[in-house]
Amino acid sequence: MFPVVRPRRLRRNPAIRRLVAETRPAPAELVLPMFVREGLTEPRPIASLPGVVQHSRDSLRKAAVEAVQAGIGGLMLFGVPLTRDEVGSAGTDPDGILNVAIRDVVSEVGDATVVMSDLCLDEFTSHGHCGVLRPDGSVDNDATLARYADMALAQAEAGAHVLGPSGMMDGQIGVIREALDQAGHTDTALLAYAAKYASAFYGPFREAVESTLQGDRKTYQQDPANLREAMREVALDLAEGADMVMVKPALPYLDVVASVAANVDVPVAAYQVSGEYAMVEAAAANGWIDRERVILEQLTSIRRAGAQIILTYWAIEAARLLRQGY
Ligand code: PBG
Repeated sequence: MFPVVRPRRLRRNPAIRRLVAETRPAPAELVLPMFVREGLTEPRPIASLPGVVQHSRDSLRKAAVEAVQAGIGGLMLFGVPLTRDEVGSAGTDPDGILNVAIRDVVSEVGDATVVMSDLCLDEFTSHGHCGVLRPDGSVDNDATLARYADMALAQAEAGAHVLGPSGMMDGQIGVIREALDQAGHTDTALLAYAAKYASAFYGPFREAVESTLQGDRKTYQQDPANLREAMREVALDLAEGADMVMVKPALPYLDVVASVAANVDVPVAAYQVSGEYAMVEAAAANGWIDRERVILEQLTSIRRAGAQIILTYWAIEAARLLRQGY
């Protein structure tokens, strides 16, 4: 009888499909990015990210507890300050919104989940760039590193378990690691946004943090055309002391995720960014796709490509869906 080999045998019902499934994202691998805005008394919706809010300090605490109860792996905090200046002073001020929010969340959830913070100046600078500018308007790499070192100390002192340097300055991991170690913060880990592309998929995030950026970040973030360059960035970050590396965005860069995963021996994370989220929400709102199935399919694909940690705005909902089984 032909055919003898029948792969469909292993697909005949849900039980056997469950048995042979090679990839199964787990709630503990999901990290929820969260925004906290100075001066809010109520959470405020973000139009281009339906279901995501700018938190008040109070609502952030409550949402952090909810995230712990949902069993997700961690939180990534972003701060939106009321005032911005040329050098992003609010990012290094211990009383700046991100640093107080880290303190709030750590005092609320302690070690029950991993508290991470975005380490970048763009939310804090008046011009919206990830670093400080030279008189000609270009981003000054080495002057920025000094600011990152101070920001790292402020975040570590506030109690963040993991810092996520996301500015794509050369040498940032080494400078931050050294500053942390010299101050005794040897246990604060670094999740390097190692391969971060200059992506149009960050659009809704810019609304979420009320970005003032004119122009683009192409002199520091990577060209979407390049894979080999991502491997170089990852190697540099590991040599400088990164504990984990991240690829960002996720779905349009699964080849990068796969290459990085195949070549490093540290945990690999992928960030499913705001534009990836918004596209699905918009299509689902129009009734064009099955929202929950698409969410799970995307997370499964990112996991299958080799990311062991996934940052996603759906973390809490996805954790629930994953528990229900699918
Ligand atoms: C920089 C940062 C950005 C994102 C995360 N960290 C914006 C950027 O690089 O322009 C984007 C995340 C998203 O789009 O969800 N602080």
